[in-house]
Amino acid sequence: MFDRVEMAPPDPILGLEEAFKRDPNPAKINLAAGVYKDPDGNTPILGVVKRAEEQILHDETSKSYLGIVGAPEYAAVIQELLFGANHALVSSGRAVTAHAPGGTGALRVAAEFIKKANPSARVWLSQPTWPNHANVMRAAGLAVETYPYFDAPANRLAFDALLETLAQLPEGDVVVLHGGCHNPTGIDPSPDQWAAIADVLAARRALPLVDFAYQGFAEGIDEDAAGVRALCDRMSELLIATSYSKNFGLYNERVGALTLVAASQAAAEAALSQIKSIIRANYSNPPAHGAKIVTTILRSPELRADWEIEVAGMRGRIHQMRRRFVQELAAHGVERDFSFIERQYGMFSFTGLTKDQVHALRDRYAIYIVDSGRINVAGLTEANLPILCAAIASVL
Ligand SMILES: Cc1ncc(COP(=O)(O)O)c(C=O)c1O
Repeated sequence: MFDRVEMAPPDPILGLEEAFKRDPNPAKINLAAGVYKDPDGNTPILGVVKRAEEQILHDETSKSYLGIVGAPEYAAVIQELLFGANHALVSSGRAVTAHAPGGTGALRVAAEFIKKANPSARVWLSQPTWPNHANVMRAAGLAVETYPYFDAPANRLAFDALLETLAQLPEGDVVVLHGGCHNPTGIDPSPDQWAAIADVLAARRALPLVDFAYQGFAEGIDEDAAGVRALCDRMSELLIATSYSKNFGLYNERVGALTLVAASQAAAEAALSQIKSIIRANYSNPPAHGAKIVTTILRSPELRADWEIEVAGMRGRIHQMRRRFVQELAAHGVERDFSFIERQYGMFSFTGLTKDQVHALRDRYAIYIVDSGRINVAGLTEANLPILCAAIASVL
């Protein structure tokens, strides 16, 4: 059987990561993969994570299985992070949360749930979006469509075109929205735009699936949840896939969650029972360690306060690097207007570099950027900025 199996195409971003590792150039720069980097170019373990792990190591008495949807304490802290303290959705029992292995795991469980609940639903993805969205949806057997998102010449949200497309959706179709720090554009809807999107989706009776992988990286933990909360205020059903890879730096612990909001407690419980049967047939039950870290931090007022400081540190560094990048490009004589980069959020922005320019950067300067011209702003450091900006000036 295996003799007939053909090579699958490599993942474009992870393939670049491997090429970067093999590159012997000591001045190489990696702006491809989506991990946070500190001023020295490392992806550190947060101090609060280390402290929580010490506590867990000391207190833990068993490695027995978790339940299929994980620990109830984890679901509680995740819901509070999403909706804020004492939200009516939580007290009414309309929100249920399943712990999943990373944001990707949560998206896959969501996709299979959609396929079960409404097999003919189509899933609408922003154009462009994180490439794995289409993979995950198609793997669950769902048909994928796209809605306009990026106005490239103006470097802003293509809001009118977006709304026009959403206004024509048939009932029951699903719309994937990035909860904040849109990957790859760095462009998020304003509060008014979120409200308008929610109104259109409610009128069309379409289902939002919010992919929320960067809470805290745009403006603040609570501030960044404004989009999700606007949807909750205006709609009776939604799905939210969250990831704690970035804001807790727990990339390899695979910690995320799928939260479902239904119109009633009974509907939420029925949906959760279906989600359980999906998880049981996939990975049976989730891995404990990462979720225990998140729970320990969020339940301790002291650790939580320190976590907020560390998230603010990451957010501040990203904003700072955005400003410095624009300044440094100008200092290298680049005349093109890159100021939009300062106005965007999260780890990613489109530079507007062409595929040829991206390849020239890789071949001539060992600077690794994905072909679309998307850069990970968190990969910028004071040390590599002058090298990068000189190289960009030369390829432009
Ligand atoms: C938009 C978006 N969704 C989901 C994920 C996946 O997160 P995780 O690593 O927790 O699976 C990422 C990670 O890069 C992302 O950018």
